[in-house]
Amino acid sequence: MMNQKDPDNPIIRFYGSEHPEMFEIERRCMDRDGMVIRHLDRELPDGLVLDVGAGNGFTAIRLCSATRKVIALEPDAGMIDRTVPMMWVKGIAQALPFEESTFDAAYATWAFFFADVPDIDKGLNELNRVVKKGGKLIIVDNAGEDEFSWLAGKSMGSNPDWWRDRGFEQTLIHTSFRFDSLEEANRLLRFYFGDEASSKNSKTEVGYRVVAYSTSVRKR
Ligand SMILES: C[S@@+](CC[C@H](N)C(=O)[O-])C[C@H]1O[C@@H](n2cnc3c(N)ncnc32)[C@H](O)[C@@H]1O
Repeated sequence: MMNQKDPDNPIIRFYGSEHPEMFEIERRCMDRDGMVIRHLDRELPDGLVLDVGAGNGFTAIRLCSATRKVIALEPDAGMIDRTVPMMWVKGIAQALPFEESTFDAAYATWAFFFADVPDIDKGLNELNRVVKKGGKLIIVDNAGEDEFSWLAGKSMGSNPDWWRDRGFEQTLIHTSFRFDSLEEANRLLRFYFGDEASSKNSKTEVGYRVVAYSTSVRKR
């Protein structure tokens, strides 16, 4: 969720390996009803699928099936959870360690593909290279204009125009962060956004809008 962008570092620093206890709250409470995973499950084909910036594999393992194999690509060794029984590959979105047209589809959930990342186009070119012609690409990010952004005190949304200009269509998903207690909610909100956010919040369920951008790979 919270990322720090450094133009000289190919890996966007994520807090998950330094604060696993906070990431545990985030992953358990964000989209508890699994609406994002259901959307991906519906939209992704069978075959071989790539998850870019897979974190601890939470999403990837839930999308594996008898007919769909998901490969989890993650650059941060501290995020890779080898107890999650799937194929892990260490690497970055800007230089995918796969041959041309390896995958039937690829997706990323809140990872690397943020419009203000300097080399995002390198990552998109790489997706277009490693996915077969006609294969689906799906990028999941924040939609903004929700209770979550209000608590943050700033816009948390991605830029739909940026994606539309590159041929992506968007689907909005209305979900929430649902916490076990107010104490837990405010612990995560304070960690993300500081004391003001946690003092503004009085709810255990915080509305959260997510957007899935999707397109198909075109090759000559
Ligand atoms: C907000 S986490 C999301 C993790 C996972 N996709 C999920 O939804 O739980 C962002 C992830 O992107 C990874 N990441 C950072 N820089 C990256 C890069 N250049 N290429 C691919 N992944 C990257 C981080 O290490 C981190 O695990």
